Amino acid sequence: MNISEETKSKEKSCCGPDCCSDEAVVTTILEDDITKEKTEEELKQIVKDEYSKIALQSKESNESSCCGSTSACCGDGAYSIMADEYKGLKGYNPDADLGLGCGLPTQFAKIKAGDTVVDLGSGAGNDCFVARAETGETGRVIGIDMTPAMIEKAEANAAKLGFRNVEFHLAEIEKMPLEDNTADVVVSNCVLNLVPNKVNAFREVYRITKPGGHFSISDIVLTGELPPQLKVAATMYAGCVSGAVQKDEYLNIVKNAGFKDITVQKEKMITIPDQILLDYMTIDEAKEFIRSGYGIYSITVYAEK
Ligand SMILES: C[S@@+](CC[C@H](N)C(=O)[O-])C[C@H]1O[C@@H](n2cnc3c(N)ncnc32)[C@H](O)[C@@H]1O
Repeated sequence: MNISEETKSKEKSCCGPDCCSDEAVVTTILEDDITKEKTEEELKQIVKDEYSKIALQSKESNESSCCGSTSACCGDGAYSIMADEYKGLKGYNPDADLGLGCGLPTQFAKIKAGDTVVDLGSGAGNDCFVARAETGETGRVIGIDMTPAMIEKAEANAAKLGFRNVEFHLAEIEKMPLEDNTADVVVSNCVLNLVPNKVNAFREVYRITKPGGHFSISDIVLTGELPPQLKVAATMYAGCVSGAVQKDEYLNIVKNAGFKDITVQKEKMITIPDQILLDYMTIDEAKEFIRSGYGIYSITVYAEK
């Protein structure tokens, strides 16, 4: 990585504090998030408000919005820095793809025909429709999301496809309206990082998973501490960072919930561009940060009950 004064003097990053009209507001919210104690309910309300707006945007406008959670930020051309490529997957429905994922959980989910699959934080239904292609007519796919606009969008997508065995529930992951031992497979894409109480969320995932069932979850975790101001910048750049916990802590929460055979199936570092680092730290600090190997990772975790 080549960090130079020249880079610093380039036009300010779209993710910096002084471009894009909505950005100052979002930065304030994020700084607030990090610096002030908020209740779990307040944090969830912020998430709900943000995803209500995103639900009304297309993938393309998320792409051009600095506030879309996986936005590559204005104008750098790349679509998404986190989302894996869904196009070409069996069951892929472009209307359900808002570009909000950070992995491909169904890739490692070992879904079989006839399975009951629960998707946590299902958004517009992207992973539900991919899962439905694997469960077939005889299976059941259940999407859970706490944002009404996302549920509406997902239900409209399911209705268009004429699926009778895909259902969406407006609910929180920490308190799902599902019986114990419902799911053969649980999937989730870039959601648990947003949940303030991850211990309760994974306990609930354990409760609804059948004995012998499993989950495949893609999520964002951190390694090492990001300086607070960089955490704000990283959230602006990548989304889904301010609520992310350390990778070890995440895997411990999974283990303490009762899951076994926990494996990280895929891991991908999210690179923060030099330009953004240099908006928040000196060149020497940026070099030290890069050397430390600390950063933001997208992981896909598999575990069994
Ligand atoms: C980053 S988006 C991912 C959406 C979807 N998984 C995808 O890949 O397109 C996060 C979603 O999780 C939902 N969500 C966040 N926290 C939640 C919670 N505690 N309970 C239920 N849904 C939640 C949001 O409403 C939003 O739709």
